Amino acid sequence: MTMTNTLSFSYMVNMRSIFKVAIILLSIMMLLFDTTHSVVLESGENHIKSATLFSEKFEVGPGKIAVKTLLDIDFPRGHIGVKSFDVEVVDEVGNSVPLYETYLHHWFGVKYIENITMSPYIKQSHDLLNGIEFERNDGACQGFLLPHYWGLGGESRGTHSNLPDPFAVELGNAANIKHGFKEKWLFSIMIIDTRGTHDRKGCTECRCKLMNLPKDFYNVMMGINGQLLSKNYKGGLFCCQDNVQCKLKNDFRGPTRKLSLRYKIRWVDWDENQVPLKFYILDSTDRVRSNGSTPIHDCQAEYTIPRNHDNDFPHVKKADIPMTKGGYLIYGTAHMHTGVVNVTLYGQDGRVLCTSSPKYGTGKEAGNEKGYLKCQFVIPNPVPSRSKMEKF
Ligand SMILES: *[C@@H]1O[C@H](CO)[C@@H](O)[C@H](O)[C@H]1NC(C)=O
Ligand SMILES: *[C@@H]1O[C@H](CO)[C@@H](O)[C@H](O)[C@H]1NC(C)=O
Ligand SMILES: *[C@@H]1O[C@H](CO)[C@@H](O)[C@H](O)[C@H]1NC(C)=O
Repeated sequence: MTMTNTLSFSYMVNMRSIFKVAIILLSIMMLLFDTTHSVVLESGENHIKSATLFSEKFEVGPGKIAVKTLLDIDFPRGHIGVKSFDVEVVDEVGNSVPLYETYLHHWFGVKYIENITMSPYIKQSHDLLNGIEFERNDGACQGFLLPHYWGLGGESRGTHSNLPDPFAVELGNAANIKHGFKEKWLFSIMIIDTRGTHDRKGCTECRCKLMNLPKDFYNVMMGINGQLLSKNYKGGLFCCQDNVQCKLKNDFRGPTRKLSLRYKIRWVDWDENQVPLKFYILDSTDRVRSNGSTPIHDCQAEYTIPRNHDNDFPHVKKADIPMTKGGYLIYGTAHMHTGVVNVTLYGQDGRVLCTSSPKYGTGKEAGNEKGYLKCQFVIPNPVPSRSKMEKF
């Protein structure tokens, strides 16, 4: 294996002392089977089908954090090429929920294969360790970290994931699925109900001191490296556990509610006109090392942004990530949280391959909540022709 390319990417934030999850999601060159629900054939020559689907419901209540794995979600079947995958949180009657009530910290769409004879057991037990094999993206993180394909957070509602023709993510190719197994998808989600919380923003940042954690939390909780969590761990995924409660304002009372993810997938039946893509999820906290010949990845998935006192200069987090293969960049987007200025992916020679710039909301309505990320623009926009593809 030779390492010929390095991608760097920087994540720039202008907040003081907050933690931030920084992940860039970019799919590069290279990805079969019937269909579910109401499938709409879009007008036009390109034979794109689309379906709007709903996940199973999950319950939230004021201050409550929901961290769920929703197994075996509805997904178009057959040998297909996915063109887009867009997600938002909706209430029981299908209305969009504003982020200041329910913050969508992240949703990840994860591909796995399931031993068909064990399906009834898995359905009943939700056992993720037996009979299931995760199929990671082609990106660089180790182990179980950041295994997903599509995935974003609060900015998801306004950000479109359309891939330009002739590119698509190839799925359901029976020839590539291990005999006796079936390809499936799950959602891994974190949702924070911030209604009535003492510090709304702090809750969305998973600040530990705002959570009602068990007394012995720091004596038992293991961090990402399998060691006890440091007492200096101020916030992050480990403090945002399923069913943990973020501190509420005195006496706040509010009803629980049932929410679900509404997701829209657009796809084409696979044929020779499609060019398959590969997904690479890269992490700006990856502390890449090398043992001489092989890169060793050490993605952290989150980090604490140092306090920069009265300085308003943005803090920059940057990682140099060796790529074992070259390729063309077709689409890229970054997973962002409030405070982000921009996220940029650079080629080995330092040139900018793409930049994601966030847009912040200005109003009250879902999709435009003041102070929350609304969407992001990826520049360059999806590249229209092969001749203009960016090689890295
Ligand atoms: C599926 O699971 C069954 C029951 O554990 C096992 O006997 C079988 O070998 C598995 N099939 C494959 C293809 O691994
Ligand atoms: C580096 O790691 C690879 C993969 O684990 C291993 O095959 C190789 O022998 C290691 N090389 C050295 C110099 O330790
Ligand atoms: C990202 O934002 C910083 C600060 O505003 C700006 O200086 C920089 O040019 C931006 N990067 C890109 C690639 O647009």
